[in-house]
Amino acid sequence: MSVQYDLAGQKKAYESWAPFYDKVYVKFLADGQRKAAAAAAACGPDILEVGVGTGLVLRYYPPHARVVGVDLSTHMLAKAREKVVSEGLRQVRGLVCMDACNLGLPDASFDAVTVPFVITLVPDPEGALDEMRRVLRPGGEIIVASKMGAEGGLRMKLETALAPLVKKVGWSTDFKVSRLRAWAATTPDMAVVDVQPIFPAPFFQLIRIKRAG
Ligand SMILES: C[S@@+](CC[C@H](N)C(=O)[O-])C[C@H]1O[C@@H](n2cnc3c(N)ncnc32)[C@H](O)[C@@H]1O
Repeated sequence: MSVQYDLAGQKKAYESWAPFYDKVYVKFLADGQRKAAAAAAACGPDILEVGVGTGLVLRYYPPHARVVGVDLSTHMLAKAREKVVSEGLRQVRGLVCMDACNLGLPDASFDAVTVPFVITLVPDPEGALDEMRRVLRPGGEIIVASKMGAEGGLRMKLETALAPLVKKVGWSTDFKVSRLRAWAATTPDMAVVDVQPIFPAPFFQLIRIKRAG
């Protein structure tokens, strides 16, 4: 299965999700979305959200922030644009169609990059993380919130077995925190500085990866 095929699959999955995504996820993901936005705002005002989707996280960034959101799906971005207008979200400076692995943004231009409920869906997560590091200023953080797979035991076996099925609807079950740790350990100046549970724990987690200042 090629990376290109996976990107097309993601676009198709989220074209279908766009009309009713908010109804399904607005409450379920709110804890992680709030905490991801707060962690990003603590780094500074310039924030990039990768995989901004319908913009459910945008309301949680403070008014003084300057947020740019990118997403692969034009259908999800259209919903985000509606929210910016209807909720008067002046902290949002731009919403652009872009692949996480090919960010058309300058080096070292953001204090924080948030990735809420996205990294597990990207066909080349390490490539996406490399791009996020490139656009991050020294001292900044990549903040990942997602469902993280178990590192062993029966849950890991179940999640591995279910992974090919759930991928078809744009979900993931088997991506693990250890994959983020391995990326940080082999990438200059990057370190995992915090892993904390978010609702519903222990399935979902928030991971902060800091670039040395
Ligand atoms: C589960 S939604 C999360 C949306 C939002 N961050 C939230 O918390 O509600 C995943 C989003 O990631 C986007 N996505 C998937 N793969 C992507 C990629 N390679 N580059 C950019 N966005 C991607 C999808 O289009 C979708 O809008």
